[in-house]
Amino acid sequence: MSKDDAQGLARGLTNYGDRDFSIYLRRSFASSMGYSSEVLKKPIVGIANSFSGFNNCHRHFPEMVEHVKRGVLLGGGLPIEFPTISLGEVFLSPTSLKFRNLMAMDTEEMIRAQPMDAVVLMGGCDKTVPAQLMGAASADLPAVQLVAGPMMTSRYGEERLGACTDCRRFWGKYRAGEISGDEIGDVEGRLATTSGTCAVMGTASTMACIAETLGMSLPGTAAIPAVHADRLRAAEASGLAAARMIANPIRPSQVITAKSVENAIRVLLALGGSTNAIIHLTAVAGRLGIPVSLKRLNELSDETPVLVNLKPVGQNYMEDFFFAGGVGAVLRELKPLLHLDTISVTGETLGDRLEEDPGYVDRRVIASADKPLEPQGGLVALFGNLAERGAILKRSAADASLFETEGRAVVFSSLEDMAARVDDPDLDIAADDIMVLQNAGPRSASGMPEAGYLPIPRKLSSKGVKDMIRISDARMSGTAFGTIVLHVAPEASIGGTLALVRTGDRIRLSVKDKRIELLVDEDELDRRRADWVSELVPPERRRGYDRLYAAEVLQADEGCDFAFLQPVDEN
Ligand code: FES
Repeated sequence: MSKDDAQGLARGLTNYGDRDFSIYLRRSFASSMGYSSEVLKKPIVGIANSFSGFNNCHRHFPEMVEHVKRGVLLGGGLPIEFPTISLGEVFLSPTSLKFRNLMAMDTEEMIRAQPMDAVVLMGGCDKTVPAQLMGAASADLPAVQLVAGPMMTSRYGEERLGACTDCRRFWGKYRAGEISGDEIGDVEGRLATTSGTCAVMGTASTMACIAETLGMSLPGTAAIPAVHADRLRAAEASGLAAARMIANPIRPSQVITAKSVENAIRVLLALGGSTNAIIHLTAVAGRLGIPVSLKRLNELSDETPVLVNLKPVGQNYMEDFFFAGGVGAVLRELKPLLHLDTISVTGETLGDRLEEDPGYVDRRVIASADKPLEPQGGLVALFGNLAERGAILKRSAADASLFETEGRAVVFSSLEDMAARVDDPDLDIAADDIMVLQNAGPRSASGMPEAGYLPIPRKLSSKGVKDMIRISDARMSGTAFGTIVLHVAPEASIGGTLALVRTGDRIRLSVKDKRIELLVDEDELDRRRADWVSELVPPERRRGYDRLYAAEVLQADEGCDFAFLQPVDEN
């Protein structure tokens, strides 16, 4: 067997300068784990398991991985599980996004360095699925994405609770003095009560639906609840599909194409999905040299209806979406808008998939295309002197009465400044002002946190103000809602116009024209730009991963990937 068609344990040998010695030593050490020589002749399916005690969403992975292994064995492969970094959304400081690229690098390099013929990627919590897809796209070994599945909802009195839209809703009530400290303590214990990812159409659920639409997950698997027996069957089927791909390799580069990426954007828009997903999809597609343009996003958004009635935009939860028909039902409604010749990891085309019997569809959760919830997509990109490279507004989660507005800016120069002043009773702010947060983008010290959902100042929230226009270079949790302009690029920390805004300036938002403008004349902006000084600590005064991140992270419109992880032209 030549080096190039080596399979299983003979792939990618450790370099001792003697190939036969390398195989002999590897077989010997593998035998120490109890494998028979017969088993060690099998092709290998690696299982990238992102279980961690710091990741509640992946709590059930030890059970799920056993079912993946059974599927691999059924397909004639040898399953070998390996750990990668895990990113538990609420356990990471300053923010999980900062470490997404680290997990992508870990996943890519361990797929490439270890002897496997295909891989199953077990992820779920927000950043883990994009990290695994980015790594798998770069490694370009046959891969199947298996997601954790969403949590089940819980109850508080007569109310149904699901992380994390209800987390924010109750926190808002607590801040406004509508519920007591004891009550918020009770709610805290009931928001997240099973394993799995957040129970609404947040980032994790949106990315699960995108992975299925791209074709990287098995059809019908994105929305299965984490604790449902179908989740274990999906695990088995994913292991089997990966093993089958060894004889008929289908590489991520054949699945993630310009067409499947465009299908994924359509689904993102129809879901009213998370704003974070556009960053992640841009990063995944970027690994294969596929650009995602915000101008194209707007074109697709103008002609793609919102169909899915899930929180934070609507009323329902992921378990309802699963029983209502899931991603397949959404794809069927979007069929005339989709590229049907894309393929999934099974080799089946999307067109063939959509020929199958649709089964029951609950129209209270998934609307038909002729009676959509909204005629246009959930996300819109804004451009103007305040965001020359674009910004994102989730219009489906915003207050339409604020869409054509001019207002006075009230500026917070950093997260710390905001925390110190936002609840100050003397803060000079009114309900029709526009809140601006600076220095919370990808290069900032805060690492682009989900802080774009600026809290309504207590002096206003206590008077019943529920929404205001808020603008920043930060992100927003996929589970949040409000009239919130995010991902402003270029960001304030590198001297984007956002850095030049001062309290008292006028800002105009027009969703109709897709514009966001700072109404300050150019001469004055030039003066401010000349006076602007970067407060960033330069990469050479940092160390370790922090240094790599500071030197390499790209802006939001480029997916916040690292520049050196982009594909290179090898010619
Ligand atoms: Fe993991 Fe929300 S905390 S998906």
